[in-house]
Amino acid sequence: MEKEKISEIKDSVNIVDVIGESVALTKAGRNFLGLCPFHGEKTPSFNVVEDKQFYHCFGCGRSGDVFKFIEDYRGVTFMDAVRIVAERSGLALEIEEGPSQQARRSHPHQGLYDIHQEAAKFYHAILMTTTMGEEARSYLHQRGLTDEVIQHFHLGLAPREGNYLYQSMQQKFSEQTMMDSGLFNLAEDNLVYDAFQDRIVFPLTNDQGQVIAFSGRIWRQNQQEQKLAKYKNSRSTAIFNKSYELYHLDKAKASIKKNHEVYLMEGFMDVIAAYRAGIENAVASMGTALTREHVSHLSKYSKRLILSYDGDRAGQAATAKALEELQDLSIEIVQIPNQMDPDEFIAKNSAEDLQNLLTKTRISNVEFLIGYLKPENIENLQAQIEFVESLAPIIAGVQSITAQNSYIYMLAELLPDFDYQQVEQAVNNSRLSSRQAGETTYSSSLAPAPLPHDLPLAKHLSRLHKAENHLLSRMISHPMILNDYRLREDFTFDTAELQVLFEILKENGEVTPQDLSQQSEAVQQAWYLVLEEDLPEEVATEELAEVEATRDKELLRKDNQLISKNVREASHKGDHDAAIQEIERLIAQKRRME
Ligand code: CTP
Ligand code: MN
Repeated sequence: MEKEKISEIKDSVNIVDVIGESVALTKAGRNFLGLCPFHGEKTPSFNVVEDKQFYHCFGCGRSGDVFKFIEDYRGVTFMDAVRIVAERSGLALEIEEGPSQQARRSHPHQGLYDIHQEAAKFYHAILMTTTMGEEARSYLHQRGLTDEVIQHFHLGLAPREGNYLYQSMQQKFSEQTMMDSGLFNLAEDNLVYDAFQDRIVFPLTNDQGQVIAFSGRIWRQNQQEQKLAKYKNSRSTAIFNKSYELYHLDKAKASIKKNHEVYLMEGFMDVIAAYRAGIENAVASMGTALTREHVSHLSKYSKRLILSYDGDRAGQAATAKALEELQDLSIEIVQIPNQMDPDEFIAKNSAEDLQNLLTKTRISNVEFLIGYLKPENIENLQAQIEFVESLAPIIAGVQSITAQNSYIYMLAELLPDFDYQQVEQAVNNSRLSSRQAGETTYSSSLAPAPLPHDLPLAKHLSRLHKAENHLLSRMISHPMILNDYRLREDFTFDTAELQVLFEILKENGEVTPQDLSQQSEAVQQAWYLVLEEDLPEEVATEELAEVEATRDKELLRKDNQLISKNVREASHKGDHDAAIQEIERLIAQKRRME
């Protein structure tokens, strides 16, 4: 693809909007600030610079442009990132392909959709018609899935070994499509293997019902003994973003619309259990915690959500965590007893029992939090006080006064040292103090900490590196300056990464996103540090001479350090001649510096 096209695509979006879909950003001065998605942190150091259209994290040092963000956040290649942005902006892409495929260029990723559809058929046929499939099917029957259920979810089976899928797709799809699909791996011997082997396969679909990826579950005793991962998902591709997609949403849509609500569960088998209990409006995320992308995706279909995560400690913690993400939706919670998940519950009880559990035993988010935050040592006065203080702001944020009163009552019942009036007082105090702070909605101890106003400092750079950043920055913005340096054949940057960038600039007059994507991480980081230079448009008269003088001085200093080191080493080894030679160089150089 030509670089003009890539630049046009890059210019068609605002990086703040793109990143804002995945990371909560707050305006901080001229920039936007949020929690870095690339390393765990509690105070935000992830900085999105709107006027320069890039991001930089002061915590982990990562930075890049919109393509780099998509590459890293979604784990796709540079070209896929370009395609994703193009598609978002509705820009058509000329994809290099043979004449046979040009006919169906209705959608830029048509080939990927087609190969997934074919693969789903292939896996399903293996499950339904082969001897090995019969074995796998009896595993599913044992787990309570009838053939009707297997059909509804279009489950399949990946053959035990080799590349049967690859062989059968080879006649129909280009090598490129097959490699982009994530369905195959290239082994060291250069042979291609199917990515899924000996697993029961769950097709994952987008909202339109197109298959976009698979998840495969182990099913044999010996696979369990080998400690293979229980589930394995397709890798991220141009059509599969697991932080956005929800299992079964395509089929659940109609029922969500009819019932005005959606169940969110942890696993595929839980969604299947709900279906067996007559509940079709259940979805699940795919082995990842709930993301903001999931939430905004779901809220397109329904503003009422019933969280039905596993009843174990991990599931309850995930519920509490999800409540933070879901503050804009109306939430109810179903707690599955005895630490079971919905699938285990239906196995131990019955379809009707699960239906009753899901439809008739919901509690509110506040009731859930009362149970979840309740301290073990409830006799302890300090523990009671902390418990009341963490819940008071949550209760104060509840719309209905009647509901508030009943929560206050519930709390007072639980606490040996508090009566109704005392809890009520705590809730009123919390309402007052949040009003003073100008807050309107419920914000609790669970909500993220407020943002600091100053940015953390950039990581420390040597004086030499700073001077060279300054020079390169001027070359980027002033072609005349670049030209001057191009003509100075002896000029090189001491900082290796900047020299790499300088070479590209000399060659092409610019560094395009595509050029950059082919460079090492260190070079890319160096580039964004240069872009961060905030220099006035106008170049001052002596500016470059001064920067060069600083640079020369630092270079000499560095050289002196090196010579001194050589002297020390030579005399340590008893090589006096070499030592003396180095000392002479040092003296000559010092003289020049004066
Ligand atoms: N998961 C995953 N990788 C794993 C384990 C789980 O991606 N190694 C994802 C799957 O999407 C799975 C979900 O996390 O559906 C829930 O995991 P878990 O509760 O462990 O599985 P169950 O739903 O109980 O699956 P099963 O009943 O088949 O054991
Ligand atoms: Mn389970």
